[in-house]
Amino acid sequence: MNESNGTYHHEVNSGSNGHGANGSVNGIPAPAIGDVPAPESSRRYAQIIGWGYHVPEKVITNHDLEQIVDTNDEWIRSRTGIEERHVAADPKETSASLGVIAARKALELADVPPNKVDLIICATSSPEYIFPATACIIQDALGAVNAGAFDLSAACSGFVYALSMARGHILAGDAEYVLVIGAETLSRFVDWTDRNTCILFGDGAGAVLVAASDVPGGIMSIELGSDGSGANALSIPAGGSAMPASLETVGNGGHYMQMDGKAVFRFATRVMAEATQRVLARAGLTTDDVDLIIPHQANVRIIQNSVLKQLKIPEEKVMINLQKYGNTSTASIPIALCEAIDAGRVKPGDNLVFVGFGGGLTWGACAIKWSVPVEKQAAGWWKNYRRQATYQAAAARSMWKKAVRWVYDVWPTDPEGRPLRGGESQRETQYFPPQK
Ligand code: ACO
Repeated sequence: MNESNGTYHHEVNSGSNGHGANGSVNGIPAPAIGDVPAPESSRRYAQIIGWGYHVPEKVITNHDLEQIVDTNDEWIRSRTGIEERHVAADPKETSASLGVIAARKALELADVPPNKVDLIICATSSPEYIFPATACIIQDALGAVNAGAFDLSAACSGFVYALSMARGHILAGDAEYVLVIGAETLSRFVDWTDRNTCILFGDGAGAVLVAASDVPGGIMSIELGSDGSGANALSIPAGGSAMPASLETVGNGGHYMQMDGKAVFRFATRVMAEATQRVLARAGLTTDDVDLIIPHQANVRIIQNSVLKQLKIPEEKVMINLQKYGNTSTASIPIALCEAIDAGRVKPGDNLVFVGFGGGLTWGACAIKWSVPVEKQAAGWWKNYRRQATYQAAAARSMWKKAVRWVYDVWPTDPEGRPLRGGESQRETQYFPPQK
C-alpha cells in the first residue's frame, strides 16, 4: 500500500521490527535525548491501514425477545433504537474465534502477514478466561509468532483505550504493526430473564491494523477518562477476587451483568460530548471540522442527546448502526467503522472521531485524520492460496507445540530438560529441589 508521498509499510532494516541496529527506522537515526525535534519527513504517525469485522450468524429480533421476557418491539425501538442483534449460538463461537476472523480480514486488507505483527491488543469485556488473555489465543490462531499479546479491560471504551496503546507503542518506536481488536460474546454474561439488560447487547468483533507510517495523519489525539466511584453502575459482581465463584454466587446470578441503566445513561450523555470536544481541541480542530463521528453504539437516545444536541453535529455526519447489532461493547466502534467505509462514508483527508463510554466508569475519544485509500484491492488466487496456507501452518504449529508439551508431561524431566531418574517426583524436582 504505497503512496507517492510516503509509505505505510516500513521496510525492515534489521531484526523483525524494522528497527536498525542504531534504533533507526527506515534508515533514519533515532534522535538522541535533547536533540531538536525530528523534521516532518522523519516523524512517525500511527495509521489505520487494515480493518475487518465479523458477527455470528444467529440473529435475535425484538419480536424474538417478546417470547422470552416481558417486553415489546415498540418499547425497545423507541427507548434504545435497537431492532435486532447477532448472538453466538454455537458454543464454538467465542470472543477469540470472532476476533480471529475480524483480525484476519484486517491483515488481509492491509496485505500484512501475521508474522509482521509486533503487538496484539484485545479489548474485551467478555474474555475467554480471567487468564490467559484472549489476545494470546488470537495470536496463536493467527500465527503471529513475533507478537506480544494482552487483553485490555475498560468495558465499552476498551477499543479507544487500545487504539491509544497502539499509537503510543508506534510513536515510541517500539512497534511497527499493532493489531487492535474489540471482541465480545456478552450474550454469555447476560441474564436472559432480565429485560433491563438482555434487550441491549449483541455479540461480534472488529479489528484494525495500526501501522507506523511517515505519511502525516492517522491517530492524531486521544482523550481517556475514568470515574471508579461509579464502578457499581455497570458490573459483573462475581467471579473475581472480590467475590470468588461459589454455589451461592451462581445461585444468586452474581455472574451476570448488572446495570443501573439510568445512571449509565446520564453519565454517557455528559461524557460523550465533553470527550469529543476535548479530543478535537487537542488535535487543533472544532466540531465544524468533523467529517464523521463514530460513537459507541449503546442507545440511539444517548447519541442524539450528546452528539446531535449538545455538539450540534448533523445526523449525516454521525454513524449509527446499532439497530442491526445492539450494543457490542468494545466491538461496536470498529464494526461501525467498517460499515462506514463500506458505505463510502470515509475518504482520505476526512477527520473522524471515535468516542465511547462504558463500565468502570470509563470514557475515551480519539481524533483521526484518515490518510489511507479505502478501496479494497481484489486478491489474486495465489495470495488467497498463500493466506490459507499460512492459517493452516499456524494451526499445525500450535498442535505441534501442544504435542511437544504433552511429551514433556508424560516423560518427566528436570527444569533443564534432562530425563528424571526412577522414583523422583517431577513436581518435587521442578519446583522444590532437595535441600542441602
Ligand atoms: N421492555 C419493556 N419495558 C421496560 C423494559 C423493557 N425491556 N425495561 C424497562 N422497562 C420499563 C420499566 O420497568 C419502567 O416501567 P415503570 O415506569 O412502570 O417503572 C419503564 O419501562 C421505564 O424504564 P426506565 O428504566 O426508566 O427506561 P429508560 O428510558 O431509562 O431506558 C435503558 C432503559 C434502555 C436501559 C436506558 O436507561 C439506557 O440505555 N441506559 C444506558 C445503558 C447502557 O448504555 N449500558 C451499556 C454501557 S456500555 C458497557 O460498558 C457494557
